[in-house]
Amino acid sequence: MELHKESAISCSSAAEGYLIEKMNEIKIFSPATVANVSCGFDVLGFCLDSIGDEMVIRKVEKKGIAITRIEGFDLPYATELNVAGVSALAMYETLDIDFGFEIEIYKNIKPGSGIGSSAASAVGSVFGMNELLGRPFNKTELTAFAIKGEALASKCEHADNLAPALFGGFTLVKSISPLQILEIPTPDDLYATIIHPQIEIKTSESRALLPQKVDLSDAITQWANLGSLVHALHTSDYELISDSLNDVIVEPHRSKLIPHFDNVKKAVLESGALGAGISGSGPSIFSLSKSMQTALNVKDAIENIYSETGIKFEMHVSKINTQGVKIIE
Ligand code: HSE
Repeated sequence: MELHKESAISCSSAAEGYLIEKMNEIKIFSPATVANVSCGFDVLGFCLDSIGDEMVIRKVEKKGIAITRIEGFDLPYATELNVAGVSALAMYETLDIDFGFEIEIYKNIKPGSGIGSSAASAVGSVFGMNELLGRPFNKTELTAFAIKGEALASKCEHADNLAPALFGGFTLVKSISPLQILEIPTPDDLYATIIHPQIEIKTSESRALLPQKVDLSDAITQWANLGSLVHALHTSDYELISDSLNDVIVEPHRSKLIPHFDNVKKAVLESGALGAGISGSGPSIFSLSKSMQTALNVKDAIENIYSETGIKFEMHVSKINTQGVKIIE
């Protein structure tokens, strides 16, 4: 397990970086992610590889950050109202440079889907800028900038989508202040199946539903499950992964917002999945399976249920993405 702590961000290290870097424009893939993973509300997450946004980040003479193109969904162009813009500004304000950046966003992840749409935008801009500057910042420092963009969308600072998007694999956010992120190993045969019902649940509204206090007995169950899930990921113990994927605190409140959640979860478990739960703040539902074939069987089982409901939906089957955000051009 690697522990990453935020270190002081120095402009002189940034200056060395951008002096040696010659690239002017890059295209990146910023992946979707699953936060919470049942028992790890606000701290645990993993990265997907079959869905994500593409973004172009460009160095330009004009100082500042400008969003110049958005495709896929209707999102604000004003930098300070756009998640990618706010995280970019958080980084930009720490730099002493005489040029600026343009950002193009090709959005594939629907906002309010529960698979880290805002995190992908927030991560993409700071990752791309960092690459063009010659990587003056480490991934924990990038998470600290991106958290400002994420907070615009969810009205609170949390990094359980940002960290897996940046680091890849499974991550645990041990602390927000100071920011401490643990990388957790990903068992080789783990696959995710996701259903995204085409309804929107705003993270801020889904958070407002949650109780401010929980029973001690529920808390004990939850942290026992989280500890055993982390152990199971370290030891590739699929049976223990299955036994740990339970959420007694958040799921009972939020599952009511997701049509047919109980039926889907039952069918998923009957199809051989290790477990299932709400992806982030919903409405997407994730499941984890040992093998691609089981993940595909789970997909069929969910499709059988949802195709009867009249609700539009999308499905994704994905290996866990251990790389995270990356340059594609
Ligand atoms: N942990 C957050 C929540 C993730 O469940 O509210 C939302 O993206």
